[in-house]
Amino acid sequence: MRLSIWPVLALLLLINSCKTTAPAAGKQTADPYLSQVDSVLALMTLDEKIGQMTIFTTDWESTGPTIREGYQNDIRNGSCGALFNSHTVAFTRKLQEIAVKESRLGIPLLFGYDVIHGYKTIFPIPLGESCSWDLAAIEQSAAIAAAESAAAGLHWTFAPMVDISREPRWGRVMEGAGEDPYLGSLIARARVHGFQGDNFNGTDRILACIKHFAGYGAPIAGRDYNTVDMSMRMFRDIYLPPYEAGIAAGARTIMTSFNELDGVPSTGNKWLLNDVLRKENGFTGFVVTDYTSINEMVNHGFAADDKHAGELAANAGVDMDMQGAVFQRYLKESIAAGIVSEKTVDEAVRRILRIKFELGLFKDPFKYCNEAREKAQVFSPAHLEAARDIARKSIVLLKNDNKTLPLTKGKSIALVGPLAADRENLIGAWSGAGEGDKCVSVYDALKERAAKDGFKLTHAKGCAIQGEDTSGFSEAVNIARDADIIVAVVGESKEMSGEASSRAFITLPGVQEQLIKELVATGKPVVVVLMNGRPLTFPWIAEHAAAIVETWWTGSRGGPAIGDVLYGDYNPSAKLTMTFPRDVGQVPIFYSYKNTGRPYDPNTKWNSRYQDIVNSPQYPFGFGLSYTTFTYDSLKVSGKQYSFKDTIVASVKITNTGSVKGEEIVQLYVRDLVGSVTRPVKELKGFEKVMLAPGESKNVIFKLTSKDLAFHTADMTFKAEPGAFWIMAGPDSERLQKREIRLVE
Ligand code: GLC
Repeated sequence: MRLSIWPVLALLLLINSCKTTAPAAGKQTADPYLSQVDSVLALMTLDEKIGQMTIFTTDWESTGPTIREGYQNDIRNGSCGALFNSHTVAFTRKLQEIAVKESRLGIPLLFGYDVIHGYKTIFPIPLGESCSWDLAAIEQSAAIAAAESAAAGLHWTFAPMVDISREPRWGRVMEGAGEDPYLGSLIARARVHGFQGDNFNGTDRILACIKHFAGYGAPIAGRDYNTVDMSMRMFRDIYLPPYEAGIAAGARTIMTSFNELDGVPSTGNKWLLNDVLRKENGFTGFVVTDYTSINEMVNHGFAADDKHAGELAANAGVDMDMQGAVFQRYLKESIAAGIVSEKTVDEAVRRILRIKFELGLFKDPFKYCNEAREKAQVFSPAHLEAARDIARKSIVLLKNDNKTLPLTKGKSIALVGPLAADRENLIGAWSGAGEGDKCVSVYDALKERAAKDGFKLTHAKGCAIQGEDTSGFSEAVNIARDADIIVAVVGESKEMSGEASSRAFITLPGVQEQLIKELVATGKPVVVVLMNGRPLTFPWIAEHAAAIVETWWTGSRGGPAIGDVLYGDYNPSAKLTMTFPRDVGQVPIFYSYKNTGRPYDPNTKWNSRYQDIVNSPQYPFGFGLSYTTFTYDSLKVSGKQYSFKDTIVASVKITNTGSVKGEEIVQLYVRDLVGSVTRPVKELKGFEKVMLAPGESKNVIFKLTSKDLAFHTADMTFKAEPGAFWIMAGPDSERLQKREIRLVE
C-alpha cells in the first residue's frame, strides 16, 4: 500500500513555514527540523529505515544513462536512500521520480558523486591547487565545482579529501593538500565553504564530505589500503587537525577510511566515530562508509562475517553503508537479536533525513533538476577562465637557470615529450565526469601563440609515457637541434596516481629521462615541464635542465595556463606543499622532522644520516621560484619574553628587487626548543601571499598567541609549555631567519 507522505509533509511544512529559513549548514540551532524528521520517521518501517542507511553506485558510469533493473526495485521498495555515480538532470530526475512517485513513502533520494576537483570544468588536482596557497582561489574552485554539480542534479560530493600525507609513493597524495596540518586545515575549511556555502537555500551548493576519516594518508610503505600505525600524539598533532577543521567549517558528512588505526578499522571504530568525531568535535551530520569498507572488516580480521561487520559498524556510529549492502542484508536480523538497537538505527536515519530536509529535498525533490541551469552552468566560459586562473596559480617554478624562462617571443621552440600534445591526461586522477578531449593541451596553446606571435614551433612526441621504445628519439632530437629552446613535457599518466595507484619507484616512467638526456646533449637549453600526481625523483634532470616547471595536472585549461607561465604572462607564485625527495630511499621525508639525539652532520659518521645520499630533499616544503626576486630584511619580533596571554608579533619587510611584479608566499615557522616531549625542528604557523610591483616593499606582520604554540604534551593535554622558541620567517621551509623568544608562566 503506497502511503505518500506528501499530504503529511505538506501539513508539516505549512505548520513550520512560519519558522525562519534553514539554519546555516553545520550551524545547528535547537533543531528546526526535529518535528519534521520525527514525523517522517514515525511513518517508516524498519526496512525503510535501513534503506535510508544504504547507498549504491549505479552502473551509469560504465553503461551510459540507463537505469539497471536492480536500481528501480531498490528505489521503488525503499531499500536504498541514496545513489552515487549518477548525474545529469535527466538521469537523476528519472531516479528521483521513481523514489517520490513509486515508493511507499516517497522519501527523496540523495545523489552523491566524487567531484574532487571539478565536475565538468576540471580544476588542477587538489595537491596542485594546494601549492597556490591561495585560499580564496581554492574556495572559488570548490564553489564552481558545486555550482556545476548542483546544476547537474547532484546533492553531495565525496570531497574534500583532507588526508595529510608524507608518502609520495601513495597515489592519493594527488587528492589532498600535502604534508602540513596547518595549511591542510586552512585548505579543508576553504573547500568545505566552497562546496557548501553558508546554507542550501539556493541551488548552487552541495554537501561536502570530509574524508577519509581517519589517518588514511599514512599507510605503511606508501601502499594504498595498508596498515596505519602511529602514536596517538602523532595522530592528534599531525593527522587529525584537517578533519577537525573541516568539521568546524560545517561539513555535513564524513566518510570513514579503509585503513585500520592502531589495530581498529575506522569503519568499526567507536572511539573515532563517537568520541572523537561527535563528542569532541560536535559533528552533527551523518557518517558514510567508504566503498564496501564494512565488508572489508572481515578481511581485516576485525569481523567474523559481514553480519558481524555490520553490527560493529552500526554500533560504532556508521550511518550509511556504501555499496556493501550489509545493512540491507543483515541489520534487521541484528536488531531482532538485540545486537543493534532500533534506537541506534533511528538516530542514524534522523541524521540522514535531517540533511535531506536541510537540502530542501522534501520541499522540492526536483529542486536540483533544471535543464536550463545545467546548460548554463556546465563548462561556462567564466568557469573555464577560472580554471585557467587557478591552474596558473598552482604551477611551481622549481628551476630557472640563466633566466631561460620566461620564453621570449621570436625564439623558435621545439616542443617534445609524450604529454606535450596530450589532452586526456590533463584532467588528472579523480576527474569523475571530466572530459579529457575537451581540454586544451600545451601544444594547442603554443600553436595559438606561434600563429599570433610568429615564432617557429615544431613538435615531436619522442616517446610514450611508459615503455622502452626509443625509436622516436631521433625525430625529437632533430627538431631540437633546429630550435632555439626545447620544451619537454613529461610525467606520469593520470592513472599512475589516485586510488590503488601506489608506486615503489617514483621516477619518470619509461624512457622519458633518457629522452631528456638526449635533448640536453644537443646543447640547447631544455625546459622540463612536469605533469604528475605526486612528488617525483629526478636528480639528473634537476642538475642538467635549464628550467623545471612542476604543473601537476592542471585541468581543462591546463595548456593555456602553462603557456601563460612559460611566456611570463603570469609570473609563477606557487610553492610546494609536499617535499620532493632526491630518491625514494629517503621516504618518508618531510620538513617538520625531529632533531634526534644525533642530528645530521655530513662530516662525521655517528649521526642520523645515510652513507649514500644527503638528508636534504631535492626541493623542500614551501619552495618555489619567481621570475622576479625578493629580498627579506631582518626579521623583527615585538619582544624577548611573553606571558601566555601576550600576542607575539613578528614582522619582516620584503622587497621586490626584480623587474616584474610578482607574488611571494612569506612563511612563518616556529620551533619549540625544549618540550615535555620532543618537538619538530619547525612547524608552519602562518603565511601571507603578497603581490609586489618592482621596487615595492611590504612589511608582513604575523601574530601568534600561546594557542599557536600548543601541542599534545607528555600527558596528552593540548597546551603550550613555557620555554624558549625560535620564530622563523622566509620564502620556504629552509631559507629562514630566526629570532629566539621565551614564553613564561
Ligand atoms: C572510493 C574512494 C572514495 C570515494 C568512494 C566513492 O573507493 O576511496 O574516496 O569517494 O570510493 O567513489
